[in-house]
Amino acid sequence: MRQAGRYLPEYRAVREKYLLEEMFFTPEIAAEITLMPIQRFGFDAAILFSDITIIAPALGLKLVFNEGPHVTPFVTPENISQLPLDIHTLQPIFDTIRLVKQQLSVPLIGFCGGPYTVATYLMGEQSWEKHPSFGKLIDRLTEVSILYLQQQIAAGADVVQVFDSWANRLDGEEFEKYSLGPLRKIVQSVNKPVIVFMRGSARRAEQIAQLGCAISIDSERPLADVRSQVALPLQGNLDPEVLLSPETTRRATLSLLDTMHADPSFILNLGHGILPNTPLESVYALIDTVNNYSLHT
Ligand code: CP3
Repeated sequence: MRQAGRYLPEYRAVREKYLLEEMFFTPEIAAEITLMPIQRFGFDAAILFSDITIIAPALGLKLVFNEGPHVTPFVTPENISQLPLDIHTLQPIFDTIRLVKQQLSVPLIGFCGGPYTVATYLMGEQSWEKHPSFGKLIDRLTEVSILYLQQQIAAGADVVQVFDSWANRLDGEEFEKYSLGPLRKIVQSVNKPVIVFMRGSARRAEQIAQLGCAISIDSERPLADVRSQVALPLQGNLDPEVLLSPETTRRATLSLLDTMHADPSFILNLGHGILPNTPLESVYALIDTVNNYSLHT
């Protein structure tokens, strides 16, 4: 339920007081926000409050949020070879994880972006993904992502998720080279379970399954259908739109449970981020439906 904060009144109250970049880089604030959904709803796992673009400072780039993340300078074929790599600039994120772990009794999900998706934000409007140096940017981001996830795990993350949200824009050889290849390196370099998400993950589940990790499945295909083809752990896949009302939430959750509840490697979740205008009642309805279902079966 990422980018989750906005539907929570307690998140919006904190958000009014600070800039997003201050919230991400102040461990006390980021830890407090990470714990909010757990305190209110008692979910089975927490996800770190951070962003996929947060690694920008480790490459010497300045990061600001203004209707989305923006870096300066943009990464170009000319400056790519001069970018530093200093993972210690991300120390506040590792400190956040340590703080959260002191107060959390359920697993903590750390995360990073897929190298291709992060690249789309670092290149600015002038995308240069056809340039021969693009592979260098992907390699650099793969290297940073591995170091970053290893440090998150050292600080206490129990599971890590990789959001390669925009990988659905790639096809064929490019999908392999810029998305699956880097993701494979990441999955092989961390010693905790990995969950991979991308837009279009349901339709591409059979291909993503080559990675041998858990897959976060979007709502473009029934989960039972994906399960008939893929034996790995599957997370998903309620359409975030159904959460706009408690009634549709109950109906969709029940129907998902009817097909998946006996599956030992099914993680009930949304297929993509929760919408900011989701009523709290829908989230309570979801939890209530899951809890009562387990009681009666
Ligand atoms: O739910 C959570 O708080 C978990 C932490 C989290 C955030 N971003 C915090 C955030 C996670 C897991 C992300 C992932 C992320 N960030 C992705 C991949 C997942 C996806 O949705 O496809 C992407 C592409 C980003 C980049 C990003 N960050 C964008 C495009 C934006 C602005 C657009 C938007 O949806 O608001 C952000 C800002 C951002 N990151 C917010 C949060 C809570 C919004 C904060 C606010 O406005 O108060």
